[in-house]
Amino acid sequence: MKPEGIVASLPKAEILAVRNLKAYYASKKGLVRAVDDVSFMVREGECVGLLGESGCGKTSLALAIMGFFERVARYAAGTSGDPTLRKEFDKGMKGVTPDRPGVQGSVYFRGVDLTKLPEEEFVKLRGRELSMIPQGLGHALNPMYSIGMQTGEPVEIHDEHVRLIQLKRKVLEYLGLVSLADAGTRFVMDPGSFSGGEAQRILIAMSLISGPYLVIADEPTSALDVTIQRQILNVLRMIRDEFDVALFVISHDAGVVAELADRVAVMYAGRIMEFGTAVQMFHHPDHPYTKGLMASFPTIAMMRMKAGGKRPVLRGIRGYPPDLSDVPRGCPFHPRCDFVVDRCRSEIPEYREVEPEHWIRCHRWGEIEQE
Ligand SMILES: Nc1ncnc2c1ncn2[C@@H]1O[C@H](COP(=O)(O)OP(=O)(O)OP(=O)(O)O)[C@@H](O)[C@H]1O
Ligand code: SF4
Ligand SMILES: [Mg+2]
Repeated sequence: MKPEGIVASLPKAEILAVRNLKAYYASKKGLVRAVDDVSFMVREGECVGLLGESGCGKTSLALAIMGFFERVARYAAGTSGDPTLRKEFDKGMKGVTPDRPGVQGSVYFRGVDLTKLPEEEFVKLRGRELSMIPQGLGHALNPMYSIGMQTGEPVEIHDEHVRLIQLKRKVLEYLGLVSLADAGTRFVMDPGSFSGGEAQRILIAMSLISGPYLVIADEPTSALDVTIQRQILNVLRMIRDEFDVALFVISHDAGVVAELADRVAVMYAGRIMEFGTAVQMFHHPDHPYTKGLMASFPTIAMMRMKAGGKRPVLRGIRGYPPDLSDVPRGCPFHPRCDFVVDRCRSEIPEYREVEPEHWIRCHRWGEIEQE
């Protein structure tokens, strides 16, 4: 018998540990600091949510973890219309200064630093041990191939000897797990025959079929209408509860993160501002930005009220997020913060663990009154 008491009391192992990660694009306006000194970790089997306004760097962070960032950034520099930009990008990448395009820092996945891993080694992990459900359904599935063929691709890539009958069984099993209607007859059809919600189910099946340790889901519901969003959330919840897999769910919608995440990181202007348990982050956020963000979501306000909190008052955060090629000095949130003091305008707050399981980037932690 499993010694449950003993197993349950052991801390879960870190599956992903991101340390001081930077990912900068080169643009006509200068460096775009999309990911700036980001550190956090995901443990075995848990769901970590990444929440932040549009353009704050969430997808760039996912691309940097998956080892795609430099390719995407280089391609963007090459197609920018400015012929010097690609050269600058390549030259900058070889530089030693911390202010250069590309990825810096570490991404430990099961103890291996992926940023140092040669591409030929990385391809053995990608899709098999860690996989990603990309943002936006539009380009994710190849219109030329059947969805059955595409769903089985991660297995085929990593096991060239897999027998066709085994592969077909596996594909049908996974399409069934995500409840794709009539999968048995429709798996030969191309992606054009499926709705947005169905395409998302197929992408989820594809991300799981090789039995990964970690799945990154980038905005898994954002391109869908409300009823379909609910169905996809139910599929993701089933995966969280029934599969032995860690999830890193990225969204600009606090409602999505609240439904799924055990722990939540809040990102602003390329930086993680606060990281804590879902209860901490949704019910007692400490960072002025997290407080503002949570106070602007109706679902979170209702959730707090149901849990015995005050009647919800919805407030937005004044002003706009900065352009990431021109981030304000000091705390990047200072132009919008109601608690700003002189120090905030000149000094970047350190990202520090202020309590167990609670990290924050704010000079005034502990001074600002709780709500
Ligand atoms: N190829 C690129 N070249 C230059 N800048 C880019 C490129 N792609 C994204 N950016 C910029 O990097 C920043 C972060 O973009 P990213 O897509 O990571 O944000 P996001 O948080 O995922 O946004 P959303 O919620 O809209 O998906 C944005 O300011 C964006 O304009
Ligand atoms: S460091 Fe200052 S400006 Fe930034 S969030 Fe804290 S109080 Fe506000
Ligand atoms: Mg994005």
